Amino acid sequence: MRFSEKILKHFQNPRNVGEIKNADGFGRVENPICGDITDIYLRVRNGKIEDAKFKSLGCAVTISSGSVFTEAIKGKKLDELLEGKGDQLVEMLINLIEKELGDIPGKKLHCPPASVEAFLKATLMYYEKQHDKEKIDKLRNLIESIEKYYERGNISS
Ligand code: FES
Repeated sequence: MRFSEKILKHFQNPRNVGEIKNADGFGRVENPICGDITDIYLRVRNGKIEDAKFKSLGCAVTISSGSVFTEAIKGKKLDELLEGKGDQLVEMLINLIEKELGDIPGKKLHCPPASVEAFLKATLMYYEKQHDKEKIDKLRNLIESIEKYYERGNISS
């Protein structure tokens, strides 16, 4: 299996690895295809992601996904990141990873959605603390709709 330069670079030197104490949001995902775990921690101030960290017991693609994804969301406003809805929004978030990493082998296309789902879960926790019902409902729907993205690619050959 061949990996892009970017995947190798972020796998060998991942950014934002670790935990955030007293995080405003935390999300854990067990990848439904391979069982690997990805955690994302968020610190949010005035609706903006001040810090994002991740930990993963996963493969090179998952580790490089967590690295580029946390880089992409740091400093962004949650409202901006969650603009739009449904599949279009999920795909925009997955593309923050896939466009940055370049070619991802088909058998590994189930890896990037885990970082996005962990982020959505962390964001859900944040909005639950704010009792923001509209955002809570939106995030629950997004989390449900991400399931099919794990099934992409040829995972049987
Ligand atoms: Fe399990 Fe990539 S995260 S194979």
